[in-house]
Amino acid sequence: MDKNFYITTPIYYPSAKPHMGHAYSSIVSDFFARLKKIQGYDVFFLTGTDEHGQKIQRAAESKGKDPIKFCDEISKTFKDLCETLNLSNNDFIRTTEDRHKKSVENLWNILVNKKEIYLSKYSGWYSVSDEAFYADDEIEEVNGLKICKVSGSKVEWVEEESYFFKLSKWQSSLLKFYEDNPEFILPETRKNEVISFVKRGLKDLSISRKSFSWGIKVPNNDDHVIYVWLDALTNYLSALNYPNVNDNLYKKFWPATVHIIGKDILRFHAIYWPAFLLAADIEPPKRVYGHGWILSGDEKMSKSKGNILDPIEIIEKYGLDPLRYYLLKEVSFGNDGNISNEKLENCINSDLANNYGNLCQRVISFCEKNIGLKVPDIDKFNKDDMEILNNFKVNFENLKKQIDKQNINFYLNFIVDQLFKANKYFNDQEPWKKKTDKKRLNTIVYVALEIIRKISILLYPIIPESSLKALHIFDISEKDIDFETILDNNFLNKGDKINKIEILFNKIT
Ligand code: MSP
Repeated sequence: MDKNFYITTPIYYPSAKPHMGHAYSSIVSDFFARLKKIQGYDVFFLTGTDEHGQKIQRAAESKGKDPIKFCDEISKTFKDLCETLNLSNNDFIRTTEDRHKKSVENLWNILVNKKEIYLSKYSGWYSVSDEAFYADDEIEEVNGLKICKVSGSKVEWVEEESYFFKLSKWQSSLLKFYEDNPEFILPETRKNEVISFVKRGLKDLSISRKSFSWGIKVPNNDDHVIYVWLDALTNYLSALNYPNVNDNLYKKFWPATVHIIGKDILRFHAIYWPAFLLAADIEPPKRVYGHGWILSGDEKMSKSKGNILDPIEIIEKYGLDPLRYYLLKEVSFGNDGNISNEKLENCINSDLANNYGNLCQRVISFCEKNIGLKVPDIDKFNKDDMEILNNFKVNFENLKKQIDKQNINFYLNFIVDQLFKANKYFNDQEPWKKKTDKKRLNTIVYVALEIIRKISILLYPIIPESSLKALHIFDISEKDIDFETILDNNFLNKGDKINKIEILFNKIT
């Protein structure tokens, strides 16, 4: 079985500092990366910054800065955010690096050799903010301004010489590819959007620009720079040392398992990207997952609307793990969601402090008072014990299946349900009334400890720092976490020491 897992975030435009939307794509990707790692996969998790194009050039000019200096500064804030969010990324790629430039030039040359590129003239609408070309029927006029109907961003009329990629030629191959790979685009609703767009007919795609210079030059024609999306998408290959196809990273991790992206950039990933790759005779990625937006109020965050949510401010106020937990649990994955202090505080108080933190504290302190800080000996498990312990076994295969469809909601709901059941178990079993029945008391504590261990393992990809604090109870460290061990109901050994831990989450009053 293929035990390699390659996951990517979009590479972010360093046109302004990162906001909550960027943090969301990264946290979601980190969740899957960590989850697959504890399932024994060899994981490669990539993120980075997308630094070329007119949008960046203009942003740099508006600050009176040289584009590369401008990118150096803002790219660093994205790189720093990886640490702040506790991402487990293996690499951080910048499209201004030489390794990337080599890779893009190589892909371009392959497409030229395969006669997939020709020189002509582009005239049409272009949005610098989206770095996208739009057809007439995608444009509307609002207050005398031409904007894209879907993204709402301003478009400009462009007329210039341009290289084109023969996208129209790939229409039927793409449709066949979607049919043969029914889970290439997830969620399902987005897949349908893409398929109907392709069915309406594809036009050849302009893939170079002449009216500005900030980009990778077209090989053999310095007057043009390569279209920023062809440049950017190639990052997923460059990080694996493409064009060196014999490189271990490339051999092991291409095709990518999943590109996590926002729904705003689905067309580029689900149409252009596989078309470029099919044309170059490179296998397309296995999946593109287009998630929803984090809204500020009811609107998508954007600099121009001035409604940006800053992840750092929230982390400083509430801590990182509560933010990670909130985004993964409260935003239904695939759909839009929003974030408010009130909802975040509820989440901290009810799920994290009351359900999880409290379970850990009460079981450990009961154990300390009645048994001492060691794993108790057990009698036989009774029906109640077996039922709660076996929940993990019964749901195991389905849990894995749902994870592989990126069904975060299923995974989170399972955990919340188990937490609820664990607290109920401890209350219902009333070990404090079993002081004369030492064997039963020991068994209840053992079961509760086992459940804490299993739930903490499941929580690791969501709230890694807090989960590791809890797993310290059993001296389990990060490298020892093994997802499969949630199946084992006798993992803890009699007499092993139990470590006390500090309070995991403080309630917000
Ligand atoms: N540079 C391109 C991506 C190239 S990938 C080869 C780009 N960059 S971006 O910085 O504008 O946005 C990147 C991603 O950030 C979006 O696709 C999305 O995943 C995430 N988000 C940006 N704003 C968002 C929200 N308000 N909500 C959720 N995610 C959003 O597009």
